[in-house]
Amino acid sequence: AILATPSGAGPAYPVRAITVIVPFAAGGPTDIVTHIVTDHLAKRLGQQIIVENVVGAGGTTAAIRATRAAPDGYTLLMGHMGTHGSALAAYPQLVYDPVTDFTPIGLVVRTPVLVVVRRGLPVHDLADLVRYSSKHGKAITMAHAGFGSISHATCTLFNTIGDIHPATQAFQGTGPALKALIAGRVDYMCDQIVGAAPRVGTGEVKALAISSGRRSPILPDVPTSAEAGFPDFEISAWSALFAPKATPQHIVDGLNAALAHALDDPEVRQALGSLGGEIPLADERSASTLATLIEREATRWRSLSRPAAVLDGSRVRQ
Ligand code: MLT
Repeated sequence: AILATPSGAGPAYPVRAITVIVPFAAGGPTDIVTHIVTDHLAKRLGQQIIVENVVGAGGTTAAIRATRAAPDGYTLLMGHMGTHGSALAAYPQLVYDPVTDFTPIGLVVRTPVLVVVRRGLPVHDLADLVRYSSKHGKAITMAHAGFGSISHATCTLFNTIGDIHPATQAFQGTGPALKALIAGRVDYMCDQIVGAAPRVGTGEVKALAISSGRRSPILPDVPTSAEAGFPDFEISAWSALFAPKATPQHIVDGLNAALAHALDDPEVRQALGSLGGEIPLADERSASTLATLIEREATRWRSLSRPAAVLDGSRVRQ
């Protein structure tokens, strides 16, 4: 174990357990990625890391909690393209600013999104799904992890492109949503590859497309959205580690270095890679690169803010 601050840069850190808040239910992609990385960070930093799932409001409840924590490095957030991007489109009055209310630590993983359907749904590709949905209207149910979450934002984009208007059902994360899909209680959803891929592999759900410019090596038979006839449905989700704003630089530097170490670790790489996660290259790992990404995402999603369209037809199950 190493202390993140071995020199005289600041008070020794960490000297007690660190909490990493996950904004969604256990068993979903954010939770999976967090456990893989924090297992390594805990060993590297020589302290216990407690993963706390704080669910609600498409991940924004957890993000708000993180902004209110002391900026001492002992409460961190696993944020993602939802909490720090698409939530801005879903909640124009969001009480936090992804750019100014957090201290970026580093990008953790990029995750393409799969469009997955329940096994018994009589569709074989995206065009089939669009045809079937147009015909059945609100009898088709799309599952998601709350307004503004990645699953919600990406499938809303797909629905807009395909001009389909399903009934929607919110869950506390795509872990539970995927269980409902496997049980046949909902018809389709958009989930990050690290969550859905194992269930595609076992045949419990069917993947129709991956929202990426290239196929994933772990699911070589799943076409890209462009190959499936939907080139505009290209979007890459990501997860990243954040601290509350005004976290001291020596803590940020220590956590960033420990994260980079984790991303070079063969076990971590195998665990993320075997689920289809794309590990950031060395030059994408700095805190300032993440800061730039967040600025870009915030601008992009703020400009897409169309609450009426985004919220239309949804009902929330808590
Ligand atoms: C999760 O971990 O449940 C997902 O990341 C939620 C989402 O779709 O944003």
